[in-house]
Amino acid sequence: MLSYEEIEAMEVDEKCKRIILALGKIYRADFFVEISSAHVSGVSYDNIGDEGLEWLKSIAGKVKVRTTLNPAGMDLDKWREMGINEDFRKKQLEIIEVFEKLGAEITLTCTPYYLLEPKLGEHLAWAESSAIVYANSLIGARTNRESGISALASAITGVTPYYGLHIKENRAPTVVVKASGDLSIVGYKAGMELSGEIPYFIFDRKVSKDELKLLSASLASTGNIAMFHAEGITPEWKDFERPAEIVEIEGKMGKKCEADLIAIGCPHCSKEELMQILNLLNGRKVKRELWIFTSRFVASESRKIVEELEKLGAKVFRDTCMVVSPITEKFSCVMVNSGKALEYLPKKRKVEVAFGSLEDCIRMAIS
Ligand code: F3S
Repeated sequence: MLSYEEIEAMEVDEKCKRIILALGKIYRADFFVEISSAHVSGVSYDNIGDEGLEWLKSIAGKVKVRTTLNPAGMDLDKWREMGINEDFRKKQLEIIEVFEKLGAEITLTCTPYYLLEPKLGEHLAWAESSAIVYANSLIGARTNRESGISALASAITGVTPYYGLHIKENRAPTVVVKASGDLSIVGYKAGMELSGEIPYFIFDRKVSKDELKLLSASLASTGNIAMFHAEGITPEWKDFERPAEIVEIEGKMGKKCEADLIAIGCPHCSKEELMQILNLLNGRKVKRELWIFTSRFVASESRKIVEELEKLGAKVFRDTCMVVSPITEKFSCVMVNSGKALEYLPKKRKVEVAFGSLEDCIRMAIS
């Protein structure tokens, strides 16, 4: 625990210190807590532009805790293959260089939890809404919904104000959701209907960790949701009383268009998902563009699988994604299995979006 006076006395970048102190006051935090890691968003040049780059350059010193980074606007190696131009590449590399100087790890993924699994009860300052829900709900670590700026300020100071989801009582569920069907769509609908709530899910079947990852991402994209509980699954599900209010949500959506790109990996694919795609392809060559996004870390752990996928004509990109890279704009209809991509692709990339399960997506890719 650190007091306002102790933060004032820190010899760190003045702007970062001011941000942390201001947030503490706004949210009426009594004190600050040390964090074990920070995850910073706002890495793609397409998102932050020259103003963001200038701001990053103005930060002095080094991060105090392990700091990971969200995806950039391109694959650092296959940028040409993606169709990224030289100007964009230069700017993107400049951003990465600044982060490197600050001491951040150039992870470029929205799944930092595959690299550094925090422990139950640990305090974090994470930006990237899908990772925030994942960390709070599936790991039981504690983070508020940080912005790229506040997460970086926490990385530099090593602390975050103690309020919101850092406090155990604030983590209680507020509504029971009986869920069936596709969890990406359950999250997409629940986010819209239950923004600001902490849902307590009861599923009608056994669900996988990757499905819960997709649920985390879609909940956070359509609603201001930073955590959920899942009966019998999440670490804190037994710690609170079950809410009285019950709603039912069916994860079903028929959203179609003639896909010229099938994009998987929002959030970035795990090794298991890469394997699942390979199994679904079952030796058949893809006939449409199939782009798969994952982290450098998972790709290197899954080298053989990635090679097999590429032999079948899929493109596996690292360091970036279908939403934060401007390149998706050249397509007209993108088919996804992610509720978050379903929400953001039309808004950010002005493309039509079709939704289907992973099985549907692969079926489309080989048709
Ligand atoms: Fe990750 Fe990009 Fe989706 S950052 S959660 S793959 S929008």
